[in-house]
Amino acid sequence: MTAVLKVGLIGCGNVVSYGHRPALTTLPDVELVAVADITPARLEIAKQWFGLADENLYADYRAVLARADVDAVVVTVPQQFRRQIVLDAFAAGKHVLSEKPIADSPAVADELLQAAEAAGLCFGMVHNYHFLPEYRQIKQLLSADTIGEVRVATLQYMSVIDYPGAKEYAADWRHQLTAGGGVLMDMIHAVYLAEWLLGQEAQQVQAFVDAPEYAHRQPKIEDLALVQIAFPKGYATIHMGWGEGVGGVDITGAEGHIRLHYKDYQTSGFNQPIELYSVDKSWKRTDHALENLPTHMDNIARSFTQLWANFADAIRDGTPMMAPASAGKRALELALGAYLSGVSGRTITLPLPTDHPVYLKGLLGMAEAEVWEHSTTKRVGIFGLRG
Ligand SMILES: NC(=O)c1ccc[n+]([C@@H]2O[C@H](COP(=O)([O-])OP(=O)(O)OC[C@H]3O[C@@H](n4cnc5c(N)ncnc54)[C@H](O)[C@@H]3O)[C@@H](O)[C@H]2O)c1
Repeated sequence: MTAVLKVGLIGCGNVVSYGHRPALTTLPDVELVAVADITPARLEIAKQWFGLADENLYADYRAVLARADVDAVVVTVPQQFRRQIVLDAFAAGKHVLSEKPIADSPAVADELLQAAEAAGLCFGMVHNYHFLPEYRQIKQLLSADTIGEVRVATLQYMSVIDYPGAKEYAADWRHQLTAGGGVLMDMIHAVYLAEWLLGQEAQQVQAFVDAPEYAHRQPKIEDLALVQIAFPKGYATIHMGWGEGVGGVDITGAEGHIRLHYKDYQTSGFNQPIELYSVDKSWKRTDHALENLPTHMDNIARSFTQLWANFADAIRDGTPMMAPASAGKRALELALGAYLSGVSGRTITLPLPTDHPVYLKGLLGMAEAEVWEHSTTKRVGIFGLRG
Protein backbone atom coordinates (compact mmCIF):
# COMPACT_ATOMS: atom_id res chain seq x y z
CA MET A 1 0.00 0.00 0.00
CA THR A 2 1.25 3.53 -0.84
CA ALA A 3 2.27 5.61 2.17
CA VAL A 4 0.00 8.60 2.76
CA LEU A 5 1.69 11.96 2.13
CA LYS A 6 0.80 14.33 4.97
CA VAL A 7 0.48 17.94 3.95
CA GLY A 8 0.29 21.38 5.51
CA LEU A 9 -1.37 24.27 3.69
CA ILE A 10 0.01 27.78 4.19
CA GLY A 11 -2.45 30.43 2.99
CA CYS A 12 -6.09 29.50 2.49
CA GLY A 13 -7.27 31.96 -0.16
CA ASN A 14 -9.28 31.70 -3.35
CA VAL A 15 -6.94 29.37 -5.22
CA VAL A 16 -7.52 26.78 -2.53
CA SER A 17 -11.27 26.81 -3.03
CA TYR A 18 -11.26 25.66 -6.66
CA GLY A 19 -7.76 24.14 -6.94
CA HIS A 20 -6.04 22.68 -3.92
CA ARG A 21 -9.24 21.81 -2.10
CA PRO A 22 -10.54 19.36 -4.71
CA ALA A 23 -7.07 17.83 -5.00
CA LEU A 24 -6.53 17.46 -1.27
CA THR A 25 -9.99 16.01 -0.69
CA THR A 26 -9.85 13.62 -3.67
CA LEU A 27 -6.47 11.90 -3.66
CA PRO A 28 -6.60 8.86 -1.37
CA ASP A 29 -2.89 8.93 -0.58
CA VAL A 30 -2.51 12.65 0.17
CA GLU A 31 -3.93 13.98 3.43
CA LEU A 32 -4.19 17.58 4.60
CA VAL A 33 -3.39 17.63 8.32
CA ALA A 34 -2.74 21.31 9.14
CA VAL A 35 -3.50 24.81 7.83
CA ALA A 36 -1.95 28.21 8.59
CA ASP A 37 -3.43 31.55 7.63
CA ILE A 38 -2.95 35.00 9.17
CA THR A 39 -6.61 35.90 8.53
CA PRO A 40 -8.89 34.31 11.16
CA ALA A 41 -11.91 34.25 8.83
CA ARG A 42 -9.91 32.25 6.28
CA LEU A 43 -8.93 29.72 8.95
CA GLU A 44 -12.60 29.34 9.77
CA ILE A 45 -13.30 28.66 6.08
CA ALA A 46 -10.45 26.10 6.01
CA LYS A 47 -11.97 24.37 9.03
CA GLN A 48 -15.27 23.98 7.20
CA TRP A 49 -13.74 22.90 3.88
CA PHE A 50 -11.41 20.30 5.32
CA GLY A 51 -13.19 19.28 8.54
CA LEU A 52 -10.05 19.93 10.60
CA ALA A 53 -10.10 20.21 14.40
CA ASP A 54 -9.11 23.58 15.92
CA GLU A 55 -5.73 22.27 17.07
CA ASN A 56 -4.73 21.81 13.40
CA LEU A 57 -5.38 25.46 12.49
CA TYR A 58 -2.67 28.06 13.03
CA ALA A 59 -2.15 31.79 12.55
CA ASP A 60 1.62 31.27 12.33
CA TYR A 61 2.94 29.05 9.52
CA ARG A 62 5.94 28.07 11.68
CA ALA A 63 3.60 25.97 13.80
CA VAL A 64 2.80 23.87 10.70
CA LEU A 65 6.50 23.49 9.94
CA ALA A 66 7.17 22.39 13.53
CA ARG A 67 4.88 19.36 13.20
CA ALA A 68 6.72 16.08 12.78
CA ASP A 69 3.79 14.52 10.92
CA VAL A 70 3.90 17.07 8.06
CA ASP A 71 5.90 15.74 5.07
CA ALA A 72 5.26 18.59 2.65
CA VAL A 73 3.70 22.04 2.53
CA VAL A 74 1.93 23.92 -0.20
CA VAL A 75 2.66 27.64 -0.06
CA THR A 76 -0.33 29.53 -1.42
CA VAL A 77 0.23 32.99 0.05
CA PRO A 78 0.71 35.91 -2.38
CA GLN A 79 4.19 35.77 -3.92
CA GLN A 80 5.70 38.68 -1.98
CA PHE A 81 5.47 36.61 1.22
CA ARG A 82 6.78 33.37 -0.23
CA ARG A 83 10.55 33.66 0.40
CA GLN A 84 10.82 33.30 4.16
CA ILE A 85 8.10 30.65 4.35
CA VAL A 86 9.80 28.48 1.71
CA LEU A 87 13.24 28.90 3.28
CA ASP A 88 11.84 27.97 6.70
CA ALA A 89 10.07 24.98 5.19
CA PHE A 90 13.28 23.59 3.72
CA ALA A 91 15.10 24.28 7.00
CA ALA A 92 12.38 22.23 8.72
CA GLY A 93 12.87 19.35 6.26
CA LYS A 94 9.57 19.76 4.39
CA HIS A 95 9.07 19.31 0.67
CA VAL A 96 7.49 22.39 -0.93
CA LEU A 97 4.87 22.87 -3.58
CA SER A 98 4.82 26.58 -4.47
CA GLU A 99 2.06 28.58 -6.07
CA LYS A 100 3.12 30.63 -9.04
CA PRO A 101 5.01 32.87 -9.51
CA ILE A 102 7.84 31.28 -7.59
CA ALA A 103 9.06 34.57 -6.07
CA ASP A 104 9.17 38.28 -6.81
CA SER A 105 12.71 38.27 -8.21
CA PRO A 106 15.00 35.77 -9.98
CA ALA A 107 17.56 36.32 -7.20
CA VAL A 108 15.09 35.09 -4.59
CA ALA A 109 14.00 32.24 -6.86
CA ASP A 110 17.63 31.19 -7.11
CA GLU A 111 18.04 31.37 -3.34
CA LEU A 112 15.02 29.09 -2.89
CA LEU A 113 16.27 26.63 -5.52
CA GLN A 114 19.63 26.41 -3.79
CA ALA A 115 17.97 25.86 -0.40
CA ALA A 116 15.91 22.98 -1.84
CA GLU A 117 18.97 21.42 -3.43
CA ALA A 118 21.07 21.75 -0.26
CA ALA A 119 18.29 20.12 1.77
CA GLY A 120 17.69 17.38 -0.82
CA LEU A 121 13.96 18.13 -0.88
CA CYS A 122 11.39 18.33 -3.68
CA PHE A 123 10.46 21.82 -4.83
CA GLY A 124 7.58 21.90 -7.29
CA MET A 125 5.49 24.62 -8.91
CA VAL A 126 1.74 24.87 -9.24
CA HIS A 127 1.95 25.15 -13.01
CA ASN A 128 -1.38 23.43 -13.32
CA TYR A 129 -2.16 24.48 -16.90
CA HIS A 130 0.12 21.65 -18.06
CA PHE A 131 -2.67 19.37 -16.90
CA LEU A 132 -5.59 21.08 -18.64
CA PRO A 133 -6.85 18.73 -21.34
CA GLU A 134 -6.34 21.14 -24.22
CA TYR A 135 -2.65 21.74 -23.43
CA ARG A 136 -1.94 18.07 -22.78
CA GLN A 137 -3.52 17.23 -26.10
CA ILE A 138 -1.68 19.97 -27.99
CA LYS A 139 1.59 18.78 -26.47
CA GLN A 140 0.78 15.21 -27.56
CA LEU A 141 0.06 16.39 -31.11
CA LEU A 142 3.39 18.25 -31.22
CA SER A 143 5.26 15.27 -29.76
CA ALA A 144 3.67 13.04 -32.43
CA ASP A 145 5.10 15.42 -35.06
CA THR A 146 1.59 16.20 -36.36
CA ILE A 147 2.61 19.61 -37.79
CA GLY A 148 6.38 19.21 -38.04
CA GLU A 149 8.81 21.54 -36.30
CA VAL A 150 7.09 24.37 -34.44
CA ARG A 151 7.68 27.76 -36.04
CA VAL A 152 5.36 30.06 -34.08
CA ALA A 153 3.08 29.42 -31.10
CA THR A 154 0.55 32.17 -30.42
CA LEU A 155 -1.21 32.24 -27.09
CA GLN A 156 -4.14 34.64 -27.02
CA TYR A 157 -5.12 35.55 -23.46
CA MET A 158 -7.00 38.78 -24.07
CA SER A 159 -9.98 38.14 -21.82
CA VAL A 160 -8.39 37.27 -18.52
CA ILE A 161 -10.97 37.95 -15.82
CA ASP A 162 -9.64 40.18 -13.08
CA TYR A 163 -10.93 38.28 -10.07
CA PRO A 164 -10.05 39.92 -6.75
CA GLY A 165 -8.37 38.02 -3.91
CA ALA A 166 -10.33 36.73 -0.92
CA LYS A 167 -12.44 39.54 0.52
CA GLU A 168 -11.53 38.62 4.11
CA TYR A 169 -7.86 39.41 3.35
CA ALA A 170 -6.59 42.08 0.87
CA ALA A 171 -8.74 41.76 -2.24
CA ASP A 172 -6.73 44.27 -4.32
CA TRP A 173 -3.21 42.89 -3.75
CA ARG A 174 -2.80 41.93 -7.43
CA HIS A 175 -2.90 45.62 -8.38
CA GLN A 176 -0.01 46.63 -6.12
CA LEU A 177 3.68 46.85 -7.11
CA THR A 178 4.44 44.25 -4.46
CA ALA A 179 2.61 41.65 -6.56
CA GLY A 180 5.70 41.82 -8.80
CA GLY A 181 3.70 42.48 -11.96
CA GLY A 182 0.18 42.69 -13.33
CA VAL A 183 -1.81 40.47 -15.63
CA LEU A 184 1.22 38.78 -17.24
CA MET A 185 2.70 37.88 -13.85
CA ASP A 186 -0.67 36.70 -12.60
CA MET A 187 -1.27 34.62 -15.73
CA ILE A 188 2.31 33.39 -15.97
CA HIS A 189 0.72 30.14 -17.08
CA ALA A 190 1.01 31.35 -20.68
CA VAL A 191 4.73 31.99 -20.20
CA TYR A 192 5.67 28.52 -18.94
CA LEU A 193 3.34 26.96 -21.51
CA ALA A 194 5.18 28.76 -24.33
CA GLU A 195 8.47 27.25 -23.20
CA TRP A 196 6.90 23.82 -22.73
CA LEU A 197 5.22 23.81 -26.15
CA LEU A 198 8.44 24.88 -27.88
CA GLY A 199 10.41 22.39 -25.77
CA GLN A 200 13.32 24.81 -25.32
CA GLU A 201 14.48 27.62 -23.09
CA ALA A 202 13.83 31.19 -24.27
CA GLN A 203 16.78 33.23 -25.53
CA GLN A 204 15.27 36.67 -26.15
CA VAL A 205 12.09 38.57 -25.36
CA GLN A 206 10.60 41.84 -26.53
CA ALA A 207 7.31 43.37 -25.47
CA PHE A 208 4.96 46.30 -25.30
CA VAL A 209 3.44 46.73 -21.86
CA ASP A 210 0.56 49.11 -21.17
CA ALA A 211 -2.38 49.76 -18.85
CA PRO A 212 -5.37 50.97 -20.90
CA GLU A 213 -8.03 49.07 -18.94
CA TYR A 214 -7.27 50.77 -15.62
CA ALA A 215 -5.98 54.10 -17.00
CA HIS A 216 -8.73 55.89 -15.04
CA ARG A 217 -7.33 54.86 -11.67
CA GLN A 218 -3.58 55.56 -11.83
CA PRO A 219 -2.57 51.92 -12.31
CA LYS A 220 0.61 50.62 -10.72
CA ILE A 221 0.94 47.52 -12.89
CA GLU A 222 0.13 46.50 -16.46
CA ASP A 223 -3.15 45.17 -17.74
CA LEU A 224 -1.92 44.58 -21.30
CA ALA A 225 1.28 42.84 -22.42
CA LEU A 226 2.15 41.95 -26.02
CA VAL A 227 5.13 39.63 -25.82
CA GLN A 228 7.37 38.02 -28.44
CA ILE A 229 9.78 35.29 -27.42
CA ALA A 230 12.65 33.84 -29.47
CA PHE A 231 13.83 30.29 -28.77
CA PRO A 232 16.91 28.69 -30.32
CA LYS A 233 14.44 27.35 -32.90
CA GLY A 234 11.02 28.94 -33.29
CA TYR A 235 9.05 31.74 -31.67
CA ALA A 236 6.10 32.34 -29.39
CA THR A 237 3.85 35.32 -29.00
CA ILE A 238 1.68 35.98 -25.98
CA HIS A 239 -1.11 38.55 -26.08
CA MET A 240 -2.24 39.03 -22.51
CA GLY A 241 -4.87 41.34 -21.10
CA TRP A 242 -7.47 41.88 -18.44
CA GLY A 243 -10.43 42.71 -20.67
CA GLU A 244 -12.97 41.38 -23.11
CA GLY A 245 -10.81 40.25 -26.01
CA VAL A 246 -10.09 37.05 -27.86
CA GLY A 247 -8.56 33.88 -26.45
CA GLY A 248 -7.22 30.63 -27.88
CA VAL A 249 -4.06 29.04 -29.18
CA ASP A 250 -2.66 28.82 -32.71
CA ILE A 251 0.49 26.90 -33.53
CA THR A 252 2.18 27.09 -36.89
CA GLY A 253 4.51 24.24 -37.77
CA ALA A 254 6.71 23.50 -40.76
CA GLU A 255 4.09 21.04 -42.03
CA GLY A 256 0.75 22.30 -40.83
CA HIS A 257 -0.98 24.05 -37.96
CA ILE A 258 -3.03 23.52 -34.83
CA ARG A 259 -5.91 25.69 -33.65
CA LEU A 260 -7.71 25.68 -30.34
CA HIS A 261 -10.47 27.90 -29.15
CA TYR A 262 -12.77 28.25 -26.22
CA LYS A 263 -16.49 28.79 -25.90
CA ASP A 264 -17.16 32.33 -27.22
CA TYR A 265 -13.43 32.62 -28.05
CA GLN A 266 -12.74 33.30 -24.37
CA THR A 267 -9.39 32.77 -22.67
CA SER A 268 -7.72 29.67 -21.20
CA GLY A 269 -8.78 28.97 -17.66
CA PHE A 270 -11.98 30.99 -17.89
CA ASN A 271 -14.17 28.89 -20.15
CA GLN A 272 -14.41 25.45 -21.70
CA PRO A 273 -12.26 24.66 -24.77
CA ILE A 274 -14.64 23.63 -27.52
CA GLU A 275 -12.62 23.04 -30.67
CA LEU A 276 -9.17 21.59 -31.32
CA TYR A 277 -8.04 20.66 -34.79
CA SER A 278 -4.89 20.18 -36.79
CA VAL A 279 -4.37 20.86 -40.49
CA ASP A 280 -1.65 19.00 -42.37
CA LYS A 281 0.47 20.21 -45.27
CA SER A 282 -2.16 19.10 -47.80
CA TRP A 283 -4.69 21.26 -45.93
CA LYS A 284 -6.49 18.20 -44.59
CA ARG A 285 -8.20 19.03 -41.32
CA THR A 286 -8.43 16.56 -38.42
CA ASP A 287 -10.65 17.34 -35.43
CA HIS A 288 -9.51 16.12 -32.03
CA ALA A 289 -12.15 15.37 -29.40
CA LEU A 290 -11.35 17.33 -26.26
CA GLU A 291 -11.04 15.39 -23.03
CA ASN A 292 -13.29 17.83 -21.20
CA LEU A 293 -15.15 17.33 -17.96
CA PRO A 294 -18.68 18.83 -17.74
CA THR A 295 -17.51 22.36 -16.81
CA HIS A 296 -14.25 24.28 -17.13
CA MET A 297 -14.05 24.50 -13.33
CA ASP A 298 -14.08 20.69 -13.28
CA ASN A 299 -11.17 20.78 -15.73
CA ILE A 300 -9.35 23.20 -13.42
CA ALA A 301 -10.00 21.02 -10.36
CA ARG A 302 -8.71 17.96 -12.23
CA SER A 303 -5.57 19.84 -13.30
CA PHE A 304 -4.73 20.52 -9.65
CA THR A 305 -5.48 16.93 -8.66
CA GLN A 306 -3.20 15.55 -11.37
CA LEU A 307 -0.49 18.04 -10.45
CA TRP A 308 -0.70 17.00 -6.80
CA ALA A 309 -0.51 13.32 -7.79
CA ASN A 310 2.65 14.07 -9.78
CA PHE A 311 4.18 16.02 -6.86
CA ALA A 312 3.38 13.18 -4.42
CA ASP A 313 4.95 10.63 -6.79
CA ALA A 314 8.06 12.81 -7.08
CA ILE A 315 8.45 12.71 -3.30
CA ARG A 316 7.72 8.98 -3.02
CA ASP A 317 9.76 7.53 -5.84
CA GLY A 318 11.56 10.32 -7.68
CA THR A 319 9.09 10.55 -10.57
CA PRO A 320 10.14 13.64 -12.58
CA MET A 321 8.07 16.67 -11.70
CA MET A 322 6.11 18.14 -14.59
CA ALA A 323 6.84 21.58 -13.15
CA PRO A 324 10.02 21.74 -11.08
CA ALA A 325 10.93 25.03 -9.41
CA SER A 326 13.63 25.65 -12.04
CA ALA A 327 10.80 26.09 -14.58
CA GLY A 328 9.22 28.57 -12.18
CA LYS A 329 12.41 30.60 -12.11
CA ARG A 330 12.70 30.65 -15.91
CA ALA A 331 9.05 31.73 -16.30
CA LEU A 332 9.54 34.52 -13.76
CA GLU A 333 12.66 35.74 -15.51
CA LEU A 334 10.95 35.65 -18.90
CA ALA A 335 7.97 37.67 -17.63
CA LEU A 336 10.30 40.21 -16.01
CA GLY A 337 12.36 40.31 -19.22
CA ALA A 338 9.15 41.22 -21.09
CA TYR A 339 8.52 44.05 -18.62
CA LEU A 340 12.11 45.23 -18.97
CA SER A 341 11.71 45.31 -22.74
CA GLY A 342 8.57 47.42 -22.35
CA VAL A 343 10.44 49.79 -20.04
CA SER A 344 13.68 50.06 -22.03
CA GLY A 345 12.32 49.77 -25.57
CA ARG A 346 14.94 47.08 -26.21
CA THR A 347 15.04 43.38 -26.94
CA ILE A 348 16.16 41.53 -23.79
CA THR A 349 18.55 38.59 -23.85
CA LEU A 350 17.95 35.82 -21.31
CA PRO A 351 18.96 34.87 -18.72
CA LEU A 352 19.38 38.32 -17.16
CA PRO A 353 22.82 39.19 -15.77
CA THR A 354 22.81 38.29 -12.07
CA ASP A 355 23.84 41.83 -11.10
CA HIS A 356 20.97 43.45 -13.04
CA PRO A 357 18.58 45.41 -10.77
CA VAL A 358 15.61 43.48 -12.19
CA TYR A 359 17.33 40.16 -11.50
CA LEU A 360 18.00 41.31 -7.95
CA LYS A 361 14.73 43.11 -7.16
CA GLY A 362 12.19 42.06 -9.77
CA LEU A 363 9.66 44.74 -10.63
CA LEU A 364 11.04 47.00 -7.91
CA GLY A 365 14.35 47.09 -9.82
CA MET A 366 12.66 48.59 -12.89
CA ALA A 367 13.18 52.18 -11.70
CA GLU A 368 16.96 51.54 -11.58
CA ALA A 369 17.02 49.98 -15.05
CA GLU A 370 17.52 51.83 -18.31
CA VAL A 371 14.18 53.55 -18.96
CA TRP A 372 13.39 54.79 -22.46
CA GLU A 373 11.84 58.21 -21.95
CA HIS A 374 9.06 57.58 -24.50
CA SER A 375 8.16 54.10 -23.28
CA THR A 376 4.49 53.41 -22.67
CA THR A 377 5.31 52.13 -19.20
CA LYS A 378 6.77 55.55 -18.30
CA ARG A 379 3.94 57.45 -19.96
CA VAL A 380 1.24 55.55 -18.10
CA GLY A 381 3.35 55.50 -14.95
CA ILE A 382 3.27 51.80 -14.12
CA PHE A 383 6.09 49.82 -12.44
CA GLY A 384 6.99 52.73 -10.16
CA LEU A 385 7.83 54.96 -13.14
CA ARG A 386 5.15 57.60 -12.48
CA GLY A 387 6.96 60.92 -12.44
N1 LIG B 1 -2.42 28.15 -10.07
C1 LIG B 1 -3.43 28.95 -10.28
O1 LIG B 1 -4.19 28.78 -11.21
C2 LIG B 1 -3.67 30.11 -9.34
C3 LIG B 1 -4.91 30.74 -9.30
C4 LIG B 1 -5.08 31.80 -8.40
C5 LIG B 1 -4.03 32.22 -7.60
N2 LIG B 1 -2.83 31.59 -7.68
C6 LIG B 1 -1.70 32.04 -6.84
O2 LIG B 1 -1.97 31.68 -5.50
C7 LIG B 1 -1.52 32.68 -4.61
C8 LIG B 1 -2.69 33.19 -3.78
O3 LIG B 1 -3.69 33.71 -4.62
P1 LIG B 1 -5.22 33.81 -4.12
O4 LIG B 1 -6.01 34.26 -5.27
O5 LIG B 1 -5.60 32.55 -3.45
O6 LIG B 1 -5.05 34.99 -3.03
P2 LIG B 1 -6.06 35.40 -1.88
O7 LIG B 1 -5.85 36.84 -1.61
O8 LIG B 1 -7.44 34.91 -2.19
O9 LIG B 1 -5.54 34.55 -0.62
C9 LIG B 1 -4.30 34.76 0.00
C10 LIG B 1 -4.36 34.06 1.37
O10 LIG B 1 -3.06 34.08 1.95
C11 LIG B 1 -3.19 34.40 3.34
N3 LIG B 1 -1.90 34.90 3.80
C12 LIG B 1 -1.26 36.06 3.47
N4 LIG B 1 -0.06 36.12 4.09
C13 LIG B 1 0.08 35.00 4.83
C14 LIG B 1 1.09 34.48 5.70
N5 LIG B 1 2.22 35.17 5.93
N6 LIG B 1 0.88 33.28 6.31
C15 LIG B 1 -0.27 32.60 6.10
N7 LIG B 1 -1.27 33.03 5.29
C16 LIG B 1 -1.10 34.22 4.66
C17 LIG B 1 -4.32 35.42 3.37
O11 LIG B 1 -4.90 35.55 4.65
C18 LIG B 1 -5.30 34.80 2.35
O12 LIG B 1 -6.18 33.87 2.96
C19 LIG B 1 -0.87 33.75 -5.49
O13 LIG B 1 0.52 33.52 -5.54
C20 LIG B 1 -1.49 33.53 -6.85
O14 LIG B 1 -0.65 33.93 -7.91
C21 LIG B 1 -2.64 30.55 -8.52
